[in-house]
Amino acid sequence: MYEDLKKILITKEEIDKRIKELAAELDRDYEGKRPLMVAILKGSVMFYADLLRAMTIPLELDFMAISSYGNKTKSSGEVKMIKDLDRSIEGRHLIIVEDIVDSGYTLSYLKRMLYSRHPESVKICTLLDKFECRETPLQPDYKGFDIGNEFVVGYGLDYAEKYRNLPEIGILKEEVYR
Ligand code: PRP
Repeated sequence: MYEDLKKILITKEEIDKRIKELAAELDRDYEGKRPLMVAILKGSVMFYADLLRAMTIPLELDFMAISSYGNKTKSSGEVKMIKDLDRSIEGRHLIIVEDIVDSGYTLSYLKRMLYSRHPESVKICTLLDKFECRETPLQPDYKGFDIGNEFVVGYGLDYAEKYRNLPEIGILKEEVYR
């Protein structure tokens, strides 16, 4: 897989170090709140597992799977639910864990949808923020790294379902996806 990469953007050590810092921040902010940590499948799985292992406060896990309807850059940003949460979120503190925020349409839609179920709070924790590509006002509450407008894979992120199991985050060579 490495031969398809233009370069390694974020090393395993850099990811580990940043996750420890984020986990400490979440531990502080959610002490006594028993947050419900919501993974958005599939890209977030590596980040989710490592982040939760680094947190020390009591928390709960749940999972959602969604897929974009057609072209996700269209203004509705409507997404289709493939797997919903298992339980009611009424009165709960939710932390949505994502691998990347790009246009922001997916999370804007999800946040609206989840707030209609009356949770106490919904915050977003993303490993990567491609802020230059934002087309909505959405801002993550916690983030690992800002990145530029580049095609990144690895550590959960894919191109055509490949590269998710790379331990680092790399930039894909253009000839691979052109
Ligand atoms: C990625 C990511 C977000 C979404 C962000 O998921 O995990 O859910 O895209 O893009 P946006 O900000 O432009 O809406 P993807 O559709 O690649 O699915 P995956 O996690 O299963 O790879």
